[in-house]
Amino acid sequence: MLKVALLGAGRIGQVHARNIAAHAESALVAVADVQLEAAQKLAAEYGANVLSVEQALADPAIDAVLIATSTDTHADLIALATKAGKAVLCEKPVDLALERALACQKATAGDGQPIMIGFNRRFDPNFATLKRAFDAGEIGKGELLSVTSFDPAPPPVSYIKVSGGLFRDMMIHDFDIVCWIFGSVPSRVMAVGSALVDPAIGAAGDVDTAVVTLSWDDGRIAVIKNSRRAAYGYDQRMELLGAEGLLAAKNVLENTVEKTTRAGHVSAKPEHFFLERYAKAYEAEWSSFVNTVLRGDALPVTLQDGINALALADAATLSAETGKPVILKGTAFEVAG
Ligand SMILES: NC(=O)c1ccc[n+]([C@@H]2O[C@H](COP(=O)([O-])OP(=O)(O)OC[C@H]3O[C@@H](n4cnc5c(N)ncnc54)[C@H](O)[C@@H]3O)[C@@H](O)[C@H]2O)c1
Repeated sequence: MLKVALLGAGRIGQVHARNIAAHAESALVAVADVQLEAAQKLAAEYGANVLSVEQALADPAIDAVLIATSTDTHADLIALATKAGKAVLCEKPVDLALERALACQKATAGDGQPIMIGFNRRFDPNFATLKRAFDAGEIGKGELLSVTSFDPAPPPVSYIKVSGGLFRDMMIHDFDIVCWIFGSVPSRVMAVGSALVDPAIGAAGDVDTAVVTLSWDDGRIAVIKNSRRAAYGYDQRMELLGAEGLLAAKNVLENTVEKTTRAGHVSAKPEHFFLERYAKAYEAEWSSFVNTVLRGDALPVTLQDGINALALADAATLSAETGKPVILKGTAFEVAG
C-alpha cells in the first residue's frame, strides 16, 4: 500500500485526492495546504491527517507526495520531496522559468526517486489508443499531426497575469502531446498569437488565440491550435496523418443522443471542461504512478518531458514575440538566423 501526502488542496488537488483514495493500492494519509481550511475540509472527506508540508516530508511513514500546489512552488517542492526520500507526482508545469526547472533537475539527479510530471492527456483513453495504433505501425510513418485544444471560456485576467502566458500555461499540454506522439522533440518552432477573445488579455501582455507549427529535421510537421474560448465547450481533438492512413481522436460528448429533424442533425456538446473531459485520464495517470513506484514500471512521464515542454513553450513565446522561426537544440533555442 502506497502511503501518500497530497500537497495542495485546490481545484486539481481535489481530483487527485479522490483518485488516491479510490485506488486499491494507495492511501491518502495526509493533506497539506497553506490555506488550512482547504486542507482540513479535504482531509476530513477522506479521513486523512492535516499536516504542514514540512511535517509531511519529515514523516517516514509517507512514501510519496502528489504536488498540486501553485505552479511557482513546484520546483522547490519536488527537490525537497526527493531529498526526503519521497516518490513524486507533480502537476504541470515544472515551473514557469526554464532555468529553475533545469536547476530542479540538477538538484534531484542523485536522489534516486521517481519524479513524474502530470501531463494527464497522455492517459486519456482515446489519445492513448491513437498512440498505441500509431506505435503498432497501423498508419505507417507519421507525417502530419494536428492538435486542437480550445477552452470553453478564458480564466479571469488576474489569473492570466500570473499564468506565464498561454504557451507556458495552456499549450504546455499540447507541446507534451506532440513530443509524446512523435517520440522526440521538434527542432523548429513558429508561433503566431492574437488577443481576440478579450482585449484585457492583450493589455496584460498575453494572447488568447494561437497557432504553433513545429517541425523535425526529417520533415515531420505538427500544428497546434489553441483558443481560450470555444462557444460550444471544451474542444480536444487530434488527427495524425501517416503514409498509410489517418488516425483521429474526436471530442468526447456529454451524451451519445443525436437528434435528426427537418432542421438538421444535432448531437450533444463536448464535455464541459478538463475536470469532466479528463476524469478517466487523471485516474489512469495515478494508477500508472502507483505501478511505477510499487512495481518498478517505467516512469511514463519524466521530469525531462516537463522540461522539454517548457523549452518549447519558451521558444513559441519568443517566436510569437519576434515573428520569426525559433531553432531548438535540446533545451537551448535561438531565433533563426
Ligand atoms: N493537469 C491538469 O489538467 C491541471 C489542471 C488544473 C491545474 N493544474 C496545475 O495544478 C496546479 C494547481 O492548480 P489549481 O487549479 O488546483 O490551483 P488552486 O489555486 O485551486 O490550488 C492550489 C492550492 O495550493 C495551495 N498552495 C499554494 N502554495 C502552497 C504551498 N507552498 N504549500 C502548500 N499549499 C500551497 C493553495 O493554497 C491552493 O489551495 C497548477 O500548477 C496548475 O497548473 C493542472
